[in-house]
Amino acid sequence: MKLHPPHLIATLALTLLTTHVLAAEPETVWISSLDLSPIVQGWGQPQADKAVTGKPLSIGGAKFERGLGTHTDSVVRLDLKRGAARFSASVGVDDAAGSDHATISFRVIGDGKTLFRSPGMKLGQPARKVDVDVKGVKMLLLLADSRGDVEYGHADWADAKLLVTGERPVTVAHPREEAVVLTPKPPRTPRINGARIFGVHPGHPFLFTIPATGDRPMTFAVDHLPKGLSVDASTGQIQGRIEKPGTYTVTFRVANQLGKAKRKFKIVCGETLALTPHMGWNSWYVWEGHVTDQIMRAAADAMVSSGMMDHGYQYVNIDDCWAVNPSSSDPTLGGEPRDAQGKVNANQRFPDMKGLTDYIHAKGLKAGIYTSPGPLTCAGHVGAYQHEELDAQRFAEWGYDFLKYDWCSYGSIAKNPKLPDMQKPYRLIGGILRRLDRDMVLNLCQYGMGNVWEWGKEVGGHSWRTAGDLGGSFYGIPGALFRDGFDVYASRELHKYGGPGGWNDPDYLLLGYLSNWKGATALTPLTPNEQYTHVSLWCLVAAPLIFSGDITRLDDFTLNLLTNDEVIDVDQDPLGKPGRRVAIDGDLEVWARDMEDGTKVVGLFNRGEDATTMRVKWTDLGLKGKRIVRDLWRQQDLGKYEGEFKASVPRHGVVLVRLRK
Ligand code: GLA
Repeated sequence: MKLHPPHLIATLALTLLTTHVLAAEPETVWISSLDLSPIVQGWGQPQADKAVTGKPLSIGGAKFERGLGTHTDSVVRLDLKRGAARFSASVGVDDAAGSDHATISFRVIGDGKTLFRSPGMKLGQPARKVDVDVKGVKMLLLLADSRGDVEYGHADWADAKLLVTGERPVTVAHPREEAVVLTPKPPRTPRINGARIFGVHPGHPFLFTIPATGDRPMTFAVDHLPKGLSVDASTGQIQGRIEKPGTYTVTFRVANQLGKAKRKFKIVCGETLALTPHMGWNSWYVWEGHVTDQIMRAAADAMVSSGMMDHGYQYVNIDDCWAVNPSSSDPTLGGEPRDAQGKVNANQRFPDMKGLTDYIHAKGLKAGIYTSPGPLTCAGHVGAYQHEELDAQRFAEWGYDFLKYDWCSYGSIAKNPKLPDMQKPYRLIGGILRRLDRDMVLNLCQYGMGNVWEWGKEVGGHSWRTAGDLGGSFYGIPGALFRDGFDVYASRELHKYGGPGGWNDPDYLLLGYLSNWKGATALTPLTPNEQYTHVSLWCLVAAPLIFSGDITRLDDFTLNLLTNDEVIDVDQDPLGKPGRRVAIDGDLEVWARDMEDGTKVVGLFNRGEDATTMRVKWTDLGLKGKRIVRDLWRQQDLGKYEGEFKASVPRHGVVLVRLRK
């Protein structure tokens, strides 16, 4: 045996001892000292040692020096590498939240198991202590949700820290998802798609183009067209005027070299427009202040060339920024705001509005425009205040078919508005539009004030925004999708209000390339599964399908999301009965919609952070007996089921099925 000199043995012993002591002595790792960039939240940016507002962390009057300030719905993913022993924090609503709207639920989840769940916490309540064992946990999630409430979800994880005995933890992004196109391409043989019913006022110009997929050239015919209408055999455009009110059931027929198709269609000449939710494109979320006449023409071209029109998309709508901006130094936005008669002028980016709508109409599409009842629009362009009648006439002369009427600066006219003040501008424009000699669909945009869904239709609206801007804080879209799409809708029971002639509008489809508000575009921040969720939910609740990404730059995945005819059929169902949430179990929600043919469409939504098996029970749907279950995204029958249907649903994803006998 080799002998070591005594000092070497001493050093070795000391080293062993220190290592041992170090390993046993846990290190405190403050969550706020980690990289916060992978954190996902519904508004603003996560803050280290501050609230989301940038102010000091403060809960129920108590201040905290350290911690993490987030905004609901937020997800912090921590890879603990199985090296931590405990997680602790004091959680609550930050005192600077500004309103007591939010009820926040805090959760800590370790490898799929709930380790801590707070009750719903409100502004002003003292912080709750979290102190949980995380030994052996690999993935730790810190979640703050404000289910059922909309704003001011300032969620603090004060003093949030880990006791670490092994490897240091890191924050990580959610797992990457492949963008998988689930839907087969439409066949080359003819197929008629889109709405099955269409409303028009007596004596007004009629335009409806039969949406059909399949190889071109294609011929179109319509049996039993009412008097006053004719169809163009090569384009499928039906035009004319019907004088006599009534419901006319016609048959569309289309044929190409490979085959033919027919489908019944109802034309209802009467008082109600928008018998199904509007389908189209809007310029705002991709072009915002940069919109021009050329952009709008290119959008109309793309509506045709992308094939979106063949699936039922009709409207090509300009949003804000076409009128003069009195305070802009950009000459292309300047000029006389109104003509000698007081009618609104377009800015120089729109030199020929009539020419533009003629261009759109020639393709069999419809044109939409935007203004505000206030003196200025949200982006500071001229609004319609005190010129409502003249401006509506101008829109009609220009040939517009759709008006979005956005509250914006009307807040300076009606300060602290009561319900009648909120209704006034919309009632006014609704009446004016109804007296025009052309049909104009009216979209109320006032972010859900005064429960607009209760009176939007009565004042002349055909749809009403139910909440704020879905994409207002670009990177907050995933949170807003769940908050405004699911929670606002379910808590306010909005299914009771939408229907033929007036629809709940949770805002546009934020897919594909969207503005990043810095003059460039970027792909939607929604994950592929969130995008399936977005479209599925919009169709289940009968929302307008208005795409607001770059229509000239559609990748296969985005186009597939927008053009699955079986999914669109859900949205456009002629019964017009919006779906609702029929079951909820934590993060798992089942939504269902009754269809005109007696079938049911069901969405199994997993809002949780891990894939899981979900089930829908027939008892939740009021069903008995066997049903054939069809997967609508894959357009595939899955088999016959009795009593319940089960499926694995990915993180933030959906399985959308239709149940028939
Ligand atoms: C508001 C609306 C948006 C958009 C912008 C335009 O924010 O809600 O949809 O129209 O104004 O400025």
